Amino acid sequence: MSTPLLRVEDLLLYYRAGNHPVHAVDGVSFTIEDRGQAVGIVGESGSGKTSMATALMRMLPKNVESFRGSIQLAGQELTTLSDDQFRREIRWKKIAMVFQGAMNVLNPVVRVGEQIAETLIFDGMEKKTALARADALLERVGLPAGIGSRYAHELSGGQRQRVVIATALVMNPELLILDEPTSALDVSVQAQIMNLLKDLKEDPGISMIFITHDIGLASDLCDSIAVAYAGQHVEFGSADRVLVEPHHPYSSLLLSSLPRLHDPAPPVPMPGEPPDLTHPPAGCRFHPRCPYAFAPCPVIVPPEYRVEDGGHARCFLNDREIAGDRYQIHLQATIDA
Ligand SMILES: Nc1ncnc2c1ncn2[C@@H]1O[C@H](COP(=O)(O)OP(=O)(O)OP(=O)(O)O)[C@@H](O)[C@H]1O
Ligand SMILES: [Mg+2]
Repeated sequence: MSTPLLRVEDLLLYYRAGNHPVHAVDGVSFTIEDRGQAVGIVGESGSGKTSMATALMRMLPKNVESFRGSIQLAGQELTTLSDDQFRREIRWKKIAMVFQGAMNVLNPVVRVGEQIAETLIFDGMEKKTALARADALLERVGLPAGIGSRYAHELSGGQRQRVVIATALVMNPELLILDEPTSALDVSVQAQIMNLLKDLKEDPGISMIFITHDIGLASDLCDSIAVAYAGQHVEFGSADRVLVEPHHPYSSLLLSSLPRLHDPAPPVPMPGEPPDLTHPPAGCRFHPRCPYAFAPCPVIVPPEYRVEDGGHARCFLNDREIAGDRYQIHLQATIDA
């Protein structure tokens, strides 16, 4: 098997807050197999999506209590690099990120072209060349010529998001992390940005981690999907499989909570509330909200059961011996629906 573009294994990130650490990322594993592929990270607010992304960028706040695990980019282990090496060789150069809400914090007094060129000038490029490169990037993300000399407040939301994407692309990264890049945009602009991302996957073949609340949106762009819940990935697998054949009840419920165009059945709201990550539930973190919970769920932490597509799911219903008649019952229900 060839080396995957990205392999994240058992990533853990706890924050210090009061007497108990916040278990923001707690044993997360996933892969992006090839260049130009995208993984969607889907989950409710507070499930640890941004924390996982900032851990990959090594842009962590001061109050980190524990940070460990393995992050391999094209076979290179990143967690053992010094901060200096990571800054010089990896951040922005190989892994770049469009931060959540970044389109609202563009510098209001610097022309957008100059904002993009700044990084290149800082890296030693001559100003004129850097501005020309910025213009080329703005054009690449679908903005009209001349927009580089405008200020952020003169642009629409969609245009500002394109500027932010161009800024992240300035060093030709292999992997682009996008944290909720379309959540502040209306549906038609959202679709345009999604088309741009699809295009960038094709050419120049950028790999992506696409973070969203919206599993439908993720399935439109992504080859695989990780379903985040309370600091863990309860399910990971190919987008096609996760959508049609989820192996975790939380994924099934997320799908049922979506309104569907051709389905007369109304969406089913997700029961209950996400847990407090300073005191995550024992056993399976989802068990207090899970309609299928049974004896082992509140007591034993479910392992990541392998799924045929190479993915995994943290749910005892995937264990024929433990689940007995319950074995994949939720799965059958989804397929029959
Ligand atoms: N610096 C910090 N110190 C303490 N707790 C934090 C810190 N940053 C985030 N958290 C907590 O970590 C958990 C995960 O937060 P995170 O922002 O990663 O979630 P998210 O999935 O990105 O949520 P959203 O969808 O709302 O953006 C939350 O409980 C949050 O309150
Ligand atoms: Mg977030």
